[in-house]
Amino acid sequence: MENRAQWGTRAGFVMAAVGSAIGLGNIWRFPAVAYENGGGAFFIPYLFALLTAGIPLLVMEFTMGHKYRGSAPLTWFRINNKKTEWIGWWAVLVAFVISTYYSVVIAWAMSYSVFAFNLSWGDDTESFLFSDYLNLSVDPGQTGSLVPGVFIPLLIVWLVTLGILFKGVKKGIEVANKIFIPTLVILFLVIVLRAVTLPGAAEGLQAFFEPNFEVITSGSVWVAAYGQIFFSLSIAFAIMITYSSYLPKKSDITNNAFITGFSNSGFELLAGIGVFAALGFMASQQGVGVEEVVSGGVGLAFVVFPQIINEFPALNGLFGVLFFVSLVLAGLSSLISISETYVAALREKLGLSRNVAVGVGGGAAAVISLLFATQGGLYFLDAADYFINQFGVAFLGLVEVVTIAWFVRKLNDFQSHANEISDIHLGGWWKICLSIITPLVLGYMMFDLFRQNILKQFDTETGNYEGYSDTFILFGGWAVAAFALVLGIVIAMKRWHTTTLDEKHKEVG
Ligand code: PHE
Repeated sequence: MENRAQWGTRAGFVMAAVGSAIGLGNIWRFPAVAYENGGGAFFIPYLFALLTAGIPLLVMEFTMGHKYRGSAPLTWFRINNKKTEWIGWWAVLVAFVISTYYSVVIAWAMSYSVFAFNLSWGDDTESFLFSDYLNLSVDPGQTGSLVPGVFIPLLIVWLVTLGILFKGVKKGIEVANKIFIPTLVILFLVIVLRAVTLPGAAEGLQAFFEPNFEVITSGSVWVAAYGQIFFSLSIAFAIMITYSSYLPKKSDITNNAFITGFSNSGFELLAGIGVFAALGFMASQQGVGVEEVVSGGVGLAFVVFPQIINEFPALNGLFGVLFFVSLVLAGLSSLISISETYVAALREKLGLSRNVAVGVGGGAAAVISLLFATQGGLYFLDAADYFINQFGVAFLGLVEVVTIAWFVRKLNDFQSHANEISDIHLGGWWKICLSIITPLVLGYMMFDLFRQNILKQFDTETGNYEGYSDTFILFGGWAVAAFALVLGIVIAMKRWHTTTLDEKHKEVG
């Protein structure tokens, strides 16, 4: 195997990490989560989660990738052999599952970028989405046939993503992010500036920022804050370990983690402002309160936004295109990072060339993603997304920090590794966050989720359609989650391809 690929520039790495972090979650998840969990007051738990878990974990994952120079499984293998390798595979398999449905949402956004030109979604945007576009006419759990309107853009999504991955780290991933991310920021700024100058925007922002301090004593608000931070920063999914394994030896770790964390939260805040200004506008057009139009997830992006765009005073089509193209760019840069986790892992485990690994790994993900492009696809997607968001984050994050802090006890090593090469020095606070605060909060999160699930009090994230049973989510979710864990353990038992463990790729520092 040739020498390990590297980022060309520091900015290239930061753009890629930020590109991974800024995704669909920032645009359709954050605004609604913040609103439902205390509005302006949500910033307290949110900032706390960012500073005590988000950035510390990002520093830890960057250090792991940089120090052990491997995909997530190889990194975990180098930490403590096969005893920890499975954690890496588990995370990679979860990332694999995410990529199969995440790609489909990007495909929808691609279709909607075209529909926006002449507002072809019409007045009833809800029935357009569910009946005309998605062709959702089967019962949950059934597939029906493939929907061509979803299948074709999905094919494009995979061609673009895999094309970029074929090109490699520097010429593919780095170049793509250097184009996508600045474009995304500019497009999004235009949208936000337009949104805040619409009539009614002020009421929307008022609703978003109005603090409800009473709720911040509730555990669920803190759980929501931690969940949002983990998902949004792409931590605990093998992604940041993989990306940082391509860092040159001389790199700053801590500073890069702060830049990534704050850029992502900055974009999230911007998205919250844009979304709520637009919701305020719509509420005022319809003469209702903002609380009646708030939504998140699929409903927000593909039902409510088309409605808002219909009501725009001028240049409706243009704003529609800007909004959906932003979703596509934000999504693609994340999908690239999610898919690179299994490309890198397959390559190293089996000694494959990049092209073969992209073909096999990406090809498999693309084929499985077809499930979500069927008539019943939305139900599967909603179930998968709900499950990953809830359990994936808490489970993987908890196993990861507890293993590093308490089982293999690597925090001191990592601290000195990062300090040697970084501007900002890590102090004792970093270790306290990772060994005590984060495990406690994630542990509580798991407990809370189990309790809710036993009581069957859950609510799906996108929640715009009803009628499917809890067992569909629970059974399907657990089946896939258990499968990912078992398969991870099985793969970890197999030997590494000999060249992978060559001296020259060994850990540094
Ligand atoms: N962080 C990205 C987002 O907010 C992408 C991502 C999604 C990463 C899911 C990991 C898991 O959408």
